[in-house]
Amino acid sequence: MTRASPKSFQIKSYGCQMNVYDGERMAGLLEAGGMIAAGSSGEVDLVVLNTCHIREKAAEKVYSEIGRLKREDGSRPMIAVAGCVAQAEGAEIPRRAPSVDIVVGPQAYHRLPELVAEAGRGGRGIDTDMPLLSKFGALPPRRRPGPSAFLTVQEGCDKFCTYCVVPYTRGAEVSRPWTAVVDEARALVDGGARELVLLGQNVNAWRDGDGRGLDHLIRALDRLPGLERIRYTTSHPNDMSEGLIRAHAEVGTLMPYLHLPVQSGSDRVLKAMNRSHTSASYLRIIERVRAARPDIAISGDFIVGFPGETETEFEATLEIVRAVNYAQAYSFKYSPRPGTPAAQMENQVPLELMDERLQHLQALLNAQQLAFNRLRVGGRTKILLERAGKRAGQIVGKSPWLQSVHVETMAEIGQIIEVDIAAAGPNSLAGIHAAAAAG
Ligand code: SAH
Ligand code: SF4
Ligand code: F3S
Repeated sequence: MTRASPKSFQIKSYGCQMNVYDGERMAGLLEAGGMIAAGSSGEVDLVVLNTCHIREKAAEKVYSEIGRLKREDGSRPMIAVAGCVAQAEGAEIPRRAPSVDIVVGPQAYHRLPELVAEAGRGGRGIDTDMPLLSKFGALPPRRRPGPSAFLTVQEGCDKFCTYCVVPYTRGAEVSRPWTAVVDEARALVDGGARELVLLGQNVNAWRDGDGRGLDHLIRALDRLPGLERIRYTTSHPNDMSEGLIRAHAEVGTLMPYLHLPVQSGSDRVLKAMNRSHTSASYLRIIERVRAARPDIAISGDFIVGFPGETETEFEATLEIVRAVNYAQAYSFKYSPRPGTPAAQMENQVPLELMDERLQHLQALLNAQQLAFNRLRVGGRTKILLERAGKRAGQIVGKSPWLQSVHVETMAEIGQIIEVDIAAAGPNSLAGIHAAAAAG
């Protein structure tokens, strides 16, 4: 059966920031082909579900979403499944959900327009090839960015932590070349971005052909006129080079924030996870980073209930959290993923125990986050205004430490202003506009 080629589309991205970046690039691609981005999936001709495979809950979400796309009259839009579930499950997806027309993996989405055409002819478009990096050359220029823009510089992972699907869904570690990154950065800044967030599954493993690391790239971007703030995420402890640590002391636009997942505080568990660092080596890195930049906000990821995790081993995680004192953190119950070594391990931890441990850990992390936020009360902080708040006249911006700050101001989105912080909650700060700030 052929059908009219779609004119409007909606992209729904789940998972990490790289999926948000990919969603943005896919939108640009479809627009370049003459399609129009629209707000609600009830009315559009094409829905792209840009999926995440990291935990079972995230991966299963795609099937309930597909079910929900049926319209009242029984018809449905053209459906494309993109992202990491597409890569992991491939042709299995339309077998389980026959209404899916297109399956396209994270390294192949530059072919989306051809796949849409194929689906329009009544076929089924499937592409889960992994020609690393070739998509970037095939994509149109970036759309107009907001004040803070994501920029993928590195993709994939060779670390093979035993619980994780990313090395299989995103492929091997590759770095985009220096000029490609700097050109895209310049275009984003020319388009109005004041902040760039450099993205990679192991972003601090980025290198160019000459062996220059992420710190060199950051120093080059620091010189881009109009760029006020640089961030990068996510980093692996083993790739935290001396040069990158030094950049935190020396590069003014590099924001005082480091997301450095440790996952567990137990060396036995870290070894079983194949993390290739210990709790002591992690703490040593944190110490060096803090010596370079004393006010830096440290954030982390944690997994509770990895197979075989004992009560004492879980306690070791609480201990490392106390030792680091995090500004922010993400913590998860271990989820066995198909094809990963940990899913085959014995002594899977019962769900109730994982629930209990997660609650315990999150109570500690939340208390640390609130304490970190309260440090700012009474002080003056530079805020990059990013979006309208809920109340009239209110704008939400970000502090250098990535805290959301609510402020009433006549200043415009995209400006950096000085704010006197008056109150702190667990997830945000509130303050009063003091003055316009330079940089
Ligand atoms: N590349 C990054 C992030 C990978 S995914 C890194 O190595 O830190 C983001 C987070 O999801 C991980 O840090 C980990 O805490 C969590 N995660 C990954 N696989 C998981 C699984 N099978 N179960 C539960 N959490 C998982
Ligand atoms: Fe997954 Fe580990 Fe790679 Fe992070 S470093 S993406 S957790 S395999
Ligand atoms: Fe999810 Fe893929 Fe990102 S599995 S976390 S969308 S790399």
